[in-house]
Amino acid sequence: MTRSDIDRLIDWFATWCHSYTRDAGDDDLRNYLLKEVHTHRVRDAAVAIAMELGCNSTDLLLAEAIGLLHDVGRFPQYREYRTFKDADSVNHAARGVRVIAEEGILAGLPPEEHRLIIRSVALHNVYRMPGFLGEREDYFLRLIRDADKLDIWRVFLEYYALPEEERASAVGLGFPDHPDCSPEILGAIADGEMINLVNVKTLNDFKLLQLSWIFDLNFAPTRRLFRERGYLEAFAAALPSDEEVRNTLAVIESYLDRTICATLNVMSGEPSWIR
Ligand SMILES: [Fe+2]
Repeated sequence: MTRSDIDRLIDWFATWCHSYTRDAGDDDLRNYLLKEVHTHRVRDAAVAIAMELGCNSTDLLLAEAIGLLHDVGRFPQYREYRTFKDADSVNHAARGVRVIAEEGILAGLPPEEHRLIIRSVALHNVYRMPGFLGEREDYFLRLIRDADKLDIWRVFLEYYALPEEERASAVGLGFPDHPDCSPEILGAIADGEMINLVNVKTLNDFKLLQLSWIFDLNFAPTRRLFRERGYLEAFAAALPSDEEVRNTLAVIESYLDRTICATLNVMSGEPSWIR
């Protein structure tokens, strides 16, 4: 993979997005643009995390390509189903792999790089990391999952801060905006568990689900970026401020402190890719 391969993919992606946005009405346009901007932010985040982890120049380009292509399936998903909810439409990762194959955009890359990109796109949205991957596939999948989460947090926090009529309609997945959080969800986070979408009942539960992704982060630079960007404080502002919620947020805060510090201590004498 070379810089000119990436530039070619960036040009292709711009044309791809334009083919969806050029005739879109206001609400559809907001949803498409949201995914276009998200893609570029994930691309930037993947490169930033990879740099901190000490990746070489080829692997930085691979991280960039995976960030750029990970959500191409979102565009046909939205056009065909008007939703970003996979359970109600199509697995957007598998749809993305189909797009990449149909468009032939990875033709000419070395087979190992081709496979790495396809595997990372195909599996970036699975609930848990699979155990069957080779070392490099495992590494790049962890990287795209971290980078993706880092920007999804931004997307949701911006969405919650907007008045309802200005929100991109497909982001909230249609959950009712009730004032309460389900006690089972709060309890699961207090136990350090990731929340499954099938247990989510309200928009507040959905916010807590997003916060629970903290427990699935792989790399210390991602946790640090989460802290630096003030996401925890922003989620606190978007959630009810009752005692149960405050206790749950305190659990997340101490988990972050513990895992960032522990990794920093370990990193002083270890290779830079330590998770
Ligand atoms: Fe994404």
